[in-house]
Amino acid sequence: MSTHHEDRIKQLLDLMTPDEKLGQLQQLAWAWDTGPGSGSTEEAGAAARKGLLGSVLNVFGAASTNALQRIAVEESRLGIPLLFGLDVIHGYWTTFPIPLAQAAAFDPAVTETDGEIAAREARSNGVHWTFAPMMDVTHEPRWGRIAESHGEDPYLTSRYAAAKVRGHQGADLAAPDRVAACAKHFAAYGGPEGGRDYNTVDVSEQRLRNLYLPPFKAAVDAGVASVMASFNTISAVPAHANPHTLTRILKEEWRFDGLVVSDWTGVLELVAHGFAEDGAAAARRALGAGVDMEMVSTTFADHGRELLARGALTEARLDDAVARVLRLKLRLGLFERPYVDESAAVTEPTASTRAAARDAAVRCMVLLKNEGHTLPLAAGPRSIAVVGPLADTGDLLGTWTVPDAQQRFPAVTVAEGLRTAVPEAHLVCVPTGGAPGAVEDADARAVAAAASVDFTVVAVGEPPALSGEAAVRSDLELPAGQRELIEAVAATGKPFAVVLFAGRPLVVGDWLDSAPAVLLAWHPGLEAGHALADVLTGAVAPGGKLPVSFPRAVGQIPVHYNHERTGRPYDATQPDEKYVSKYLDLAEGPQFPFGHGLSYTTFTTGDPRLSRTEIPTADLSEGATVEVTVSVRNTGDRAGDEVVQLYVHDLAADIVQPVRRLRGFERVTLGAGESTEVRFLLGAEDFGYWTNDPEGVFVLEPGAIDLYAGADSTARNRCRLTIN
Ligand code: GLC
Repeated sequence: MSTHHEDRIKQLLDLMTPDEKLGQLQQLAWAWDTGPGSGSTEEAGAAARKGLLGSVLNVFGAASTNALQRIAVEESRLGIPLLFGLDVIHGYWTTFPIPLAQAAAFDPAVTETDGEIAAREARSNGVHWTFAPMMDVTHEPRWGRIAESHGEDPYLTSRYAAAKVRGHQGADLAAPDRVAACAKHFAAYGGPEGGRDYNTVDVSEQRLRNLYLPPFKAAVDAGVASVMASFNTISAVPAHANPHTLTRILKEEWRFDGLVVSDWTGVLELVAHGFAEDGAAAARRALGAGVDMEMVSTTFADHGRELLARGALTEARLDDAVARVLRLKLRLGLFERPYVDESAAVTEPTASTRAAARDAAVRCMVLLKNEGHTLPLAAGPRSIAVVGPLADTGDLLGTWTVPDAQQRFPAVTVAEGLRTAVPEAHLVCVPTGGAPGAVEDADARAVAAAASVDFTVVAVGEPPALSGEAAVRSDLELPAGQRELIEAVAATGKPFAVVLFAGRPLVVGDWLDSAPAVLLAWHPGLEAGHALADVLTGAVAPGGKLPVSFPRAVGQIPVHYNHERTGRPYDATQPDEKYVSKYLDLAEGPQFPFGHGLSYTTFTTGDPRLSRTEIPTADLSEGATVEVTVSVRNTGDRAGDEVVQLYVHDLAADIVQPVRRLRGFERVTLGAGESTEVRFLLGAEDFGYWTNDPEGVFVLEPGAIDLYAGADSTARNRCRLTIN
């Protein structure tokens, strides 16, 4: 915390009227389709002129932000600059793969690069603050926002959360190529009943602290500038009015001195929740619990004076909230440089940012299946068909792109990528299923094309429109007609591969046996087609791994690797045992497990080796670590990437532990026949766990810990550590 900033804050607080203080806590929304000179400008401008506005979200472009900023800085009494926020979730003009795809790279550097490029492009266009990274751990593929998440594991999500904060914020928020980040959605938003967005979350303290909170703690430790409250309840107390999470844990236990912003109308929604009688009660409870700035709804501004007058809001709490807003503005350098240089605004992706997005997309792709070395495509001249509803569309950026990005910079299509990569090939493209360009009897044409060429790429899956906020699906199978297309292409008997696009895990079992190869591309962003061609042609081997389990059926959800054991676990050696935890009508376990992903080569991983097989609890508590070494060898005939994963399991604990917890991963590139050793350092936080005590009690206890190393969460290579 800067002394200079704190002195400046005190000076301003002494000058500000109660209305000006409440104004700093207000963020208004800019209406997309209006832009400059519209009602939204007038409304925001009028409030800014009176010094009654702290921030505007969804304002777009340097000219627009400068216009509003001039009003606040040059026409209001105290000239306090505005904060401009925008959802820059996976790119501004250079759209990277969706965050769930980035997690599949098992390489946080991918997301740090995304953060850096997005910050540079966004800040140059007047944006100071992005509402990212989203870090909601989730076991719910029905929930559309899984696309914005980093999957089902808290450790992987934590590594990505910290990396994105670093990428966005850098070392100095005042730099012209950095933006303030926002850890969202606090907290447990990824656990809604039925997978329905905004729905109830009832969660024990131990699961809150062991599963949902670790990424937020990692983001706070990385210096994240802000946190956004979530729409859901946390055990019947709305997150927007939950003093346990917002104040006791976030601001007191973690000593967070940044800004807590509501999500959209989340404060006013306390009334709909049945938690606040009216807007005044909503404002009192949200401010009292720890929300500092109100997005879109205006209960703080409408009722703040009344709450102050009757002592329902203290001056101290009001000043604390205002201080957090001013602190962020000072850290961003907005008092010194409130305007952005319009001539320096980044207006389009560059060759280097496109190259970074292409590399990211390649690293995110997961080879789910590859029988008989179907992929990569054979070298040399050949005829290729690209068919399906997603064969030739630029709508592959994914959910939560900045407005205009899809229109101005759509994704490179699959067909375009292959045409560029293999110009000597005869390539025929047949869009189907109502896709742009699909013609009458397109499916028949697609099958005929498949029958006539050497190799067919079937591009299917979930379009981005079915992904993201409020896009909750009860059926995770392919959209209508796509399975039939796959079967018909298979019936030609000619070689083919399925390229699967999705913003979530899908149910694929009904056609999987018909497809010799399946490459999961997620929603891969701007360079989709080129990245796909790189992998399909073998220019680059796929090395991604699943950050989330693929269920066999929706009825199996939740299915995730980090589950608890139960007293009657299913035992694969006794499949007919009746009285165990299993389904009568479904095979055990996911279709594809967390950590799964194939390569064009093969690898072997050795047993984990420990620097010591025993360690005293006291030593761990004082920071001692255990080094775990894992060897990995490329046993195939070509280079490739492997992600060595390390899991721990506490065999007996006072809080029943997940059967596996990911506590280390490293992606390595090895040439044919090469081998290497990967080292992990494990300490107290890797072996201990939070209890159900609401005061926050972390326990490290003596006992046996099994460590597993391998290429996915089913790894069998094991060793044992004794904590004594
Ligand atoms: C939305 C989302 C949140 C986003 C905010 C501003 O409802 O829940 O993630 O940052 O509103 O657009």
